[in-house]
Amino acid sequence: MHIKRLLAFALAGGCGGGHGGGHGNLPPAVPMITPDAWSGSLDTRVFTDENADPAIVEVSLTAAPGQVEYLPGKTAQVWSYNGGVPGPTLVANVGDEIIVHFTNDLPEPTTIHWHGVRVPADMDGTTAMMNPIPAGGTFEYRFRALDAGTFWYHPHVRSDVQVEKGLYGSIVIRDPLEPAIAAVAEEVLVLDDVLVDPETGALDETVGERAEMMGREGNLVLVNGLRSNLGIDVRAGERRRWRIVNAANSRYFKLILAGGSMTRLGGDGGLLAAPAPAAELLLVPGERADVVVSIADPSATATLLATTYERAGGAGATEPVDIVRLVAGPDAPVTPDPLPDTLRDIPAPGAPSGSRTVRLGERMEGDRMIFTINDAAFPDVPLIETATGAVETWTIVNETMMDHPFHLHGFFFQEEGSGEWKDTINIPADATVALTVDFASRAGAAGSWMYHCHILEHAEGGMMGEVRINAP
Ligand code: C2O
Ligand code: CU
Repeated sequence: MHIKRLLAFALAGGCGGGHGGGHGNLPPAVPMITPDAWSGSLDTRVFTDENADPAIVEVSLTAAPGQVEYLPGKTAQVWSYNGGVPGPTLVANVGDEIIVHFTNDLPEPTTIHWHGVRVPADMDGTTAMMNPIPAGGTFEYRFRALDAGTFWYHPHVRSDVQVEKGLYGSIVIRDPLEPAIAAVAEEVLVLDDVLVDPETGALDETVGERAEMMGREGNLVLVNGLRSNLGIDVRAGERRRWRIVNAANSRYFKLILAGGSMTRLGGDGGLLAAPAPAAELLLVPGERADVVVSIADPSATATLLATTYERAGGAGATEPVDIVRLVAGPDAPVTPDPLPDTLRDIPAPGAPSGSRTVRLGERMEGDRMIFTINDAAFPDVPLIETATGAVETWTIVNETMMDHPFHLHGFFFQEEGSGEWKDTINIPADATVALTVDFASRAGAAGSWMYHCHILEHAEGGMMGEVRINAP
């Protein structure tokens, strides 16, 4: 077995990375499909708000089997939210009440998790707090939008399968008091990849040895459910704001805008303290970015592309993929209003009152690779208990030879010294990352929350734990 050999290799200390060791025995990534035409648009569907009260966003959401064309003229059977992939974008303002009437028309149970949104624990869509909604069942999600930012929603039951089949959508929460960002357009880019049969266009749901180990990767990169290679006509100088979500099961997107410029405004937890030029942007599964992009010269082209990223010593490299292209017309450049110097005040987190160590690991059990936290696989991972209001240092130790994107539900953390609130962060292979977690009190903070690797095959394969927040 390849997996046994590579495990033996990893246990034996492997190699220090990048030199052909680690998971180098795995089959290579599948070759990508690159459609030859540039086509499509970045328009996304938005939920219809059924409530006339401007402070309430009330929507209906149905998960059901459906059909899409990932390859033009070829049908893929998927699972969809309101009939498409991705699901509609949920747009609200800070302070709004959000009500989602959810219907499960799938042939199996599901839930919805509002990734990054600080909802009450019993609205978080995890099996720690609710029974999955059975096939044919309904559920009403209700929560208040507390934070501005870019978030997303997806199932938290068999997520490796359900998300891969197409169940995901984006969430944009705006704060009307935020500093104005001069931009001609604001677009959401939900990135995913799917494995399709190049002949039939059907989804290939085989889980091979590589997928079991590394998480499933596709051969077709999607932006808002469309095949990549979208072209957008722009004018030189004009600024567009992009909210980018990585909804892929396991693909890391290391983004660069070749021929243009990109400035990061925010991430998982909303705006940064100040705009930050971004030559490249690593977006791990579950992570988001809020950026502005532009192209300086008339009649020039800039391409957003995912460049090679190595996420598992010798076996993680993905080939570069073009995602979106900006095409500037011949008109003279425009000069938009400058970006604000500061975006918001981010006070330093309080002094931690305690610390924990969370070790990410892997091991063979029988013939299967399982993924562990503190040496146990979910649901046997030792429970973490704390109290609302606690600030803690979480030291995440990656004891494996591949990167893992760490995600905590319901609360934001800062990587020590970063000054940025996040809910998903890469923990590189063989590395340790210290986080300051703020279990800030709020209505519904008490309860059980999940933390896990956002490579969904790893989460479902055991790399998931529960933190119980007790009311003081
Ligand atoms: Cu987006 Cu528990 O995850
Ligand atoms: Cu992982």
